[in-house]
Amino acid sequence: MKHFSNVRPFALVVALPFLAFVAPADANAQEESQYSNLRVLPENISRRELNRIMLANQIGLGLPRRQNEGCLYCHEGDMEIPVGEWDFASDAKPEKIRARAMLQMVADINGRHLAGIEDRVAPDLEVTCYTCHAGRTDPRELPEILWAAYDTGGIEQLVSEYQSLRDRYYGADAYDFRPHVLDGISTELADRDSFSDALTLARLNSEVHPTVPDARANWLRIKLEQTESERGVEAALTEFATFKATEPSDVVSYGLLDWMGWRLWLKDRKDVATRIFETNLSEFPNDYLPHESMASVLRASGDWDGAFGLYEDWLGRNPDHAMARRQLTNLRARHARQSN
Ligand code: HEC
Ligand code: HEC
Repeated sequence: MKHFSNVRPFALVVALPFLAFVAPADANAQEESQYSNLRVLPENISRRELNRIMLANQIGLGLPRRQNEGCLYCHEGDMEIPVGEWDFASDAKPEKIRARAMLQMVADINGRHLAGIEDRVAPDLEVTCYTCHAGRTDPRELPEILWAAYDTGGIEQLVSEYQSLRDRYYGADAYDFRPHVLDGISTELADRDSFSDALTLARLNSEVHPTVPDARANWLRIKLEQTESERGVEAALTEFATFKATEPSDVVSYGLLDWMGWRLWLKDRKDVATRIFETNLSEFPNDYLPHESMASVLRASGDWDGAFGLYEDWLGRNPDHAMARRQLTNLRARHARQSN
C-alpha cells in the first residue's frame, strides 16, 4: 500500500475514468501483471501504480488529459477507436523509448541519489517528470528555443515562436517570460551587429511589458548603439538628448548611458566609452553611479587624482554616502600599494 501514500487526489480523480475504460471487472482484486512490455517498471506492478506513473508522465509533460489523448504522445492508438484497443505495449513511438530512459533516470535519481541524502528537506519529495519538464515535452528553456528558431528562420521565426509559446504557456511554470530573456537575446544580437533584428526584439519586449521601464530603456540603448556604430558617438549623444527630453525619467535615467558605456569599454572601445561616461556625468550630476564609473575610467588611465576628486566632490555633497566613502578609502589604499 506504500505506493498509495503519495497519490495526489487530482491524479486519482483523473485516473478513474481511464480505469473504467480498460480495467477488467476484477482489476482491484488482481495484482498479477497483464503487461507484456515493461522494461523499467516492475513486472508485477499494480494497475493503480502503473496508472499513477502514466498520469505523472502526462502531467509532467503538459499533455492533454481529456479522454486520455495525452497517452498517444507515447503510445500507439487513435482517438477514433476505444482506448481499450490501443496498443500500449508497442514500442513503435520514439517518444516512448525516450520516456523509458527517463523513467529509468528518475528511478535512479530518487532511489540512489536522493535516498542517500541525510536529513532531507522533505523525505517524500521526489523528482518527477515535472521537476525538469514543468509541463512541456521539450525541456529546453526559452532562450535555447528562441535561438534555435532564429538560426532556422531568422527574426520572424523567433518572434512567432515567442508569441505562440507565450500565448500557450504564459502564467504556467513551463517558461520564464520575464523581460530579461528578450533583453538578453536582443543585446546579443546587437553584439553581432544585427541591429535591425535586435531592435525588432527589444521593441517587442517593451510592447509585451509596457509597464517595465528597463524593457523600453533596453530598446533605446540598442538604438543608440546602432547610431553610434553607423554614425559615430556624437550622433548617438545627440539622439540621447532627444530621448532624455521626451521619455519618462525612469526609462532614460543615469543607467542607460552607463550600461552602454561599459558595453563599449568591454569591447575595448575605450575612447568612445570615456566620452559616454563624461556625458552621463554631466547629464546626471546628482546621481552616484556616473561618478563611480567615471572614477574607474580615470583610474584606469592613470589619473588617480581625477578619480579621488570625483569621490571628494560627491562626498562633499553627500557626506553620509557610505558606499562612496568606502570606495574612496579602497582607491587610496590601492594607489598607496601601487606607488610603493
Ligand atoms: C511520456 C510518455 C508516456 C506517456 C504520456 C504515457 N506513457 Fe504509458 N508507458 C510509457 C513507457 C515508457 C512505458 C514502458 C515502461 C517500462 O518499460 O517499464 C509505458 C507503459 C505503459 C503500459 C504498459 C504496456 C505493456 O503492456 O507493457 C500501459 C498500460 C500504459 N503505459 C498506459 C498509459 C496510459 C493509459 C497513458 C495515459 C494516461 C500513458 N501510458 C501515458 C510512456 C508513456
Ligand atoms: C533531470 C531532468 C529530467 C527529468 C526528471 C525528466 N526529464 Fe525528460 N528530458 C530531460 C532532458 C534534458 C531531455 C532532452 C534529452 C535530449 O534529447 O538531449 C528530455 C527529453 C525527454 C523526452 C523527449 C522529448 C522530445 O521532444 O523529443 C521525453 C519524451 C521525456 N523527456 C519524457 C520524460 C518523462 C516521461 C519523465 C518522467 C518519467 C522525464 N522526462 C523526466 C530531462 C528530464
